Amino acid sequence: MIGRNAMGRSSPLLLVLLALGVFFATYNLLTMVNNYRSAGKSLGGFSHHTLLSDPIVEMPKNVRRPKNSRSLFHVALTATDAPYSKWQCRIMYYWYKKQKDMQGSEMGGFTRILHSGNPDNLMEEIPTVIVDPLPADFVGLIVTSVQGYIVLNRPWAFVQWLEKATIEEEYILMAEPDHVFVRPLPNLAHGDYPAGFPFFYITPAQHEKILRKFYPEENGPVTNIDPIGNSPVIIRKDLLEKIAPTWMNVSLRMKDDPEADKVFGWVLEMYAYAVASALHGVQHILRRDFMLQPPWDLDIGKKFIIHFTYGCDYNLKGELTYGKIGEWRFDKRSYLRGPPPKNLSLPPPGVPESVVTLVKMVNEATANIPNWEAQ
Ligand SMILES: *[C@@H]1O[C@H](CO)[C@@H](O)[C@H](O)[C@H]1NC(C)=O
Ligand SMILES: *[C@@H]1O[C@H](CO)[C@@H](O)[C@H](O)[C@H]1NC(C)=O
Repeated sequence: MIGRNAMGRSSPLLLVLLALGVFFATYNLLTMVNNYRSAGKSLGGFSHHTLLSDPIVEMPKNVRRPKNSRSLFHVALTATDAPYSKWQCRIMYYWYKKQKDMQGSEMGGFTRILHSGNPDNLMEEIPTVIVDPLPADFVGLIVTSVQGYIVLNRPWAFVQWLEKATIEEEYILMAEPDHVFVRPLPNLAHGDYPAGFPFFYITPAQHEKILRKFYPEENGPVTNIDPIGNSPVIIRKDLLEKIAPTWMNVSLRMKDDPEADKVFGWVLEMYAYAVASALHGVQHILRRDFMLQPPWDLDIGKKFIIHFTYGCDYNLKGELTYGKIGEWRFDKRSYLRGPPPKNLSLPPPGVPESVVTLVKMVNEATANIPNWEAQ
């Protein structure tokens, strides 16, 4: 009886001690792995995926890579074979090639992930992998309203590409055709922390009710969801391999949810990426300097990518006439059916540096890309 009592008393303590022992052993192991990882990244080949993908183990925010080690990322550009997509890809690829070898760049290889299912006439010009669009019946099955499902091709494209491609680099940049590299891009990610660009219109806190359908309370506050889309993001490949299928799943479920579909509209797949990464416990370093968006951002500063998604309309006095067709304008949507002509006229005096630089960079690309007018 006494022995049993003694056992009964000592066993919780024993358990605590055992647990502590296990904790320290684990802690030491992880510290060791982390040290290896920050010290020896450039040695390559050290596999830490299984241990460090554990969401409990977070990389300290202040970890920096050793000065001389470069950590390359692969540039992955999702695109279609539409003329509108093609001319943008050609300009994008032109500037990638120019910036890639410059001081400070950690840009690795390049892949255009062509998700229209068939080869096009740029296969020789731009390294390309063909993946399938969403099968129509699949879309019909899950998505009640087909209108606008096109953006859902992006997560599906990444899922397929990650499965079939051999990617040498440890990191991936998810890029889009209307991105122009304005300077050499370093790897802005740090270990378990990918880097993303904060979009002012992605506001998870304002959509708590909808987001809870996809990000249940047990995962934590909706503010865990970063105000980002999938692009531009630089992320470790193994993290993206985990997130991409979830991103696909969340996209489809959002598209199938009339409320989410209506409220999120054309940014649905951005929210889906933000939710999917949060579901995996992945948090992004938010880098405002990742890109600039003319005409709203006036200066290039030290930013890396020009995102030319907004129309730039000005009168001849150099005043922005946004929303009203300008006497001078550059808008990618003016060229839906084919490439812009070479040598676009430069904006009138007074137009901000961001817009002037964009037009000059477009002109330089179109002057140097062979057979520019070919579609
Ligand atoms: C998404 O994932 C959930 C949970 O794993 C599953 O029940 C559901 O069928 C998936 N939905 C789609 C559209 O793949
Ligand atoms: C580009 O257009 C300007 C007029 O807008 C002209 O002066 C210049 O010669 C042209 N350059 C080329 C290379 O065609």
